[in-house]
Amino acid sequence: MRAVTWQGRRDVRVEEVPDPRIQQPNDAIVKVTSSGLCGSDLHLYETLKPFMGQGDVLGHEPMGIVEEVGPEAGDLRVGDRVVLPFQICCGHCWMCDQGLYTQCETTQVREQGMGAALFGFSKLYGEVPGGQAEYLRVPQAQFMPIKVPEGPADERFLFLSDVLPTAWQSVAYADVPKDGTLLVLGLGPIGDMATRIALHQGFRVIAVDLVPERLARATAAGAEVIDLRAVDDVAEEVRSRTNGRGADSVVDAVGMEAHGSPVAAFGQVVFGALPRRVSAAVMAKVGLDRMTAIYTAIDAVRRGGTISLIGVYGGQSDPMPMLTMFDKQIQLRMGQANVKRWVDDIMPLLVDDADPLGTETFATHRVPLSEAPTAYEKFQKKQDGTVKVVFKP
Ligand SMILES: NC(=O)c1ccc[n+]([C@@H]2O[C@H](COP(=O)([O-])OP(=O)(O)OC[C@H]3O[C@@H](n4cnc5c(N)ncnc54)[C@H](O)[C@@H]3O)[C@@H](O)[C@H]2O)c1
Ligand SMILES: [Zn+2]
Ligand SMILES: [Zn+2]
Repeated sequence: MRAVTWQGRRDVRVEEVPDPRIQQPNDAIVKVTSSGLCGSDLHLYETLKPFMGQGDVLGHEPMGIVEEVGPEAGDLRVGDRVVLPFQICCGHCWMCDQGLYTQCETTQVREQGMGAALFGFSKLYGEVPGGQAEYLRVPQAQFMPIKVPEGPADERFLFLSDVLPTAWQSVAYADVPKDGTLLVLGLGPIGDMATRIALHQGFRVIAVDLVPERLARATAAGAEVIDLRAVDDVAEEVRSRTNGRGADSVVDAVGMEAHGSPVAAFGQVVFGALPRRVSAAVMAKVGLDRMTAIYTAIDAVRRGGTISLIGVYGGQSDPMPMLTMFDKQIQLRMGQANVKRWVDDIMPLLVDDADPLGTETFATHRVPLSEAPTAYEKFQKKQDGTVKVVFKP
């Protein structure tokens, strides 16, 4: 089959790879019909080189049709239309019982000290072949697949794999008080969808980015926006719009590819030049996160407010302004989204004919797998109005 493979920093290629096969009795094989490209893929594309294997199949936002099932795949049937969560989870361990599917004790990548395995997401997360491919092996198929109804276009349901539950969790964790103001940093797919969800839930949203068409999408959804390029100090601007206090809650949907810290960007280039084994160790310890967005969040949140980190940070010893965080009595929540924890909350909005979250028009680009190299590049450089790419294998 054909699949999008990682070959090096900023180098993905579509290659022929062996068809996936059933390996465990609770596996299934899915023929992929749609597969998202995510800001998280950009960490693999740009930053996480030391943890990648050449030829790794990328992608963690797939949906499709069940092609084959193992004997222990529960009630999953050939022909079912399913969305796959980006994390691999069993549904019956202690963590899964708590709804903490990204911490699944059956699939935790213990040798790396990490949580649940993820599709297409480096050695840190189990190096499981991903879903930007024609076919996908689905482990834990007795629990994982989210069955969705026939009828509406793929895009109505596709974002249940990541964007929707991630954005939903980010808003839930932000714990916005009634009539409160939520500041959303970053208007990639995640911040954009978090904005839509928070507005749908009746909150005031102030959203920040530096890409005109991303700001325009948030404005169209009903948010107030701040163009990063037009203000000296985002936090000061937020305070000026919130009685001098700051936002009740902040979602940081930027993560470590933030713009604004040349120092870290320099570090990345230096580490990129080190031998792989050395750089993996150094990077995990020292941390290369570009901390701009989180610092903005800490500054812009009001005293006693809540920060919800949904953008991914990857280093181990980032200096944090602990004095201010403690003094301001900030509540900080974070983590990979527990996809299946939120599906029942979100599904009614997806089968609603009015499509209140605008899922069907959310993607800006639908392209065949063969265009993956260009799509990755345009998404990273934010060219050609690229906000969300969906591959159609
Ligand atoms: N926690 C999870 O489960 C989970 C799931 C999916 C994605 N993510 C993470 O969420 C983050 C966003 O993902 P995405 O798909 O929306 O990708 P993205 O990279 O398109 O979005 C990031 C956005 O932040 C903007 N930005 C950069 N620097 C900024 C700054 N200093 N202030 C404000 N905005 C800034 C960029 O212009 C861009 O629009 C990534 O870190 C991704 O890894 C986390
Ligand atoms: Zn994703
Ligand atoms: Zn589990």
